[in-house]
Amino acid sequence: MNRYEALANAMAREIRSGSIAAGSRMPSLRQIIAQHGVSQSTAFRAYYLLEEWGLVRARERSGYYVARGAKVPAEKAPPATPPAQSGSVDISDLVFSVLDAAKHPGIVPLGSAFPSPQLFPLPRLARSLARASRLVSPWSTVADLPPGNEQLRRQISLRYVGMGLSQPMEEIVVTNGALEALNLCLMAVTRPGDVVAVESPGFYAALQAIERLDLRAVEIPVDPASGLDLDALAAALQTHPVRACWFMTNFQNPTGATLSIEKKKALVELLAKHDVPLIEDDVYGELHFQPEYPLPALAFDKHGLVMHCSSFSKTLAPGYRIGWACAGRFTDKVQRLKLMTTLSASIPAQAGIADYLQYGGYDKHLRKLRASLQAQLREMEAAIARLLPRGVRVTHPAGGYFVWLELPEAIDAMQLHRLAIERGVSLAPGPIFSASHAFTNCVRLNFGHPWSQKVEHAIRTLGELLDHPSVRGADR
Ligand SMILES: Cc1ncc(COP(=O)(O)O)c(C=O)c1O
Repeated sequence: MNRYEALANAMAREIRSGSIAAGSRMPSLRQIIAQHGVSQSTAFRAYYLLEEWGLVRARERSGYYVARGAKVPAEKAPPATPPAQSGSVDISDLVFSVLDAAKHPGIVPLGSAFPSPQLFPLPRLARSLARASRLVSPWSTVADLPPGNEQLRRQISLRYVGMGLSQPMEEIVVTNGALEALNLCLMAVTRPGDVVAVESPGFYAALQAIERLDLRAVEIPVDPASGLDLDALAAALQTHPVRACWFMTNFQNPTGATLSIEKKKALVELLAKHDVPLIEDDVYGELHFQPEYPLPALAFDKHGLVMHCSSFSKTLAPGYRIGWACAGRFTDKVQRLKLMTTLSASIPAQAGIADYLQYGGYDKHLRKLRASLQAQLREMEAAIARLLPRGVRVTHPAGGYFVWLELPEAIDAMQLHRLAIERGVSLAPGPIFSASHAFTNCVRLNFGHPWSQKVEHAIRTLGELLDHPSVRGADR
């Protein structure tokens, strides 16, 4: 643990024990420096961390105050090693603070989770939406209730046929984006207190869902090149009462790793042996650089245990919020949960996307999109090689639009994120991708935006910041 983290944890303990009451003023920086014998930068960073955890709030020219209703996070644990402990999750404050900081217009969005909207056929899609909206029957409010618009589910089912899979439209439930599909699937197979296996590093929304539903997470390591560690998963299944897994098998977020066909088969077999459902998040599957869609784990499922979730958010229409779950033997439950939570996905948006899929040239658009992403990856890789110091390890994904960087061990990715934001660049720091806030020297970068001087300059800025004393841990 770094010095400033230890200091932050010590102060967090005092807040938790009530020694410093909610609303009261925290010791000044000068007092902290004198009491703990730390540098100014360590004291600052400890306060930044407490702020990120939602424990203190800064008041201009007055110092730090204990936040009212402060939620105290668990102390930082070392990175998970199998068989990992299962534990409750407290990630949201950290994630929200990072996402909020990156929202300002004008920021170069290397930390974004979306590709550039310039890569989407929005005018053509708008025509489909307009046409479909004109034709929407007043009765469709009822007819398109879950499982959802029939024409859309037929088109989605046809895309599975294109992959060589038979996925009956009766088992497809349309949702508000993939995130809702994933959440509904998780709710369908767990109850509060249950243990869920997630990837580490993994998509922070999985951790947030676990936090919200009062579940417990067991983190399974992901190798940046070969993906999920199946031996670690097997060990975790032996030692924990795992009720569900939430994994990405294609172009994993954040590493970009894809499981080989052999690993996907082995994963499905392993889970079948333990009768554990797999919630498969495949939102980036269509963004493959090889000619074929890399088959999802769903393709090898013989027991209806795989719930395959995806959406059009990353490939066509982020704002339309249309996704789906192929929920196998849990379809009815997912459908009911959909009705009980948000009732239905937007009727015009469902109809608009169905129209586009049928008449808009989706495959042609996807071919263009994949080619653009692949070209942007080449630019990103070249810029990283040119502008970042040697010793930075970067993944080489076969699809999607994320690369994962492992920076020298002493680098503090959270501090890099803070300084980069000040210089107009966002990135996704490693700690938001694990319940234990590990991966402190890693970052995820987005190459989903057309290459430009601005993006190139942003990479150069990161290179310069890696040399900043507070980023390279010079005062530790
Ligand atoms: C891995 C992953 N899964 C799911 C989602 C959510 O997808 P949607 O926007 O369709 O809800 C995202 C969005 O960032 C994501 O990165």
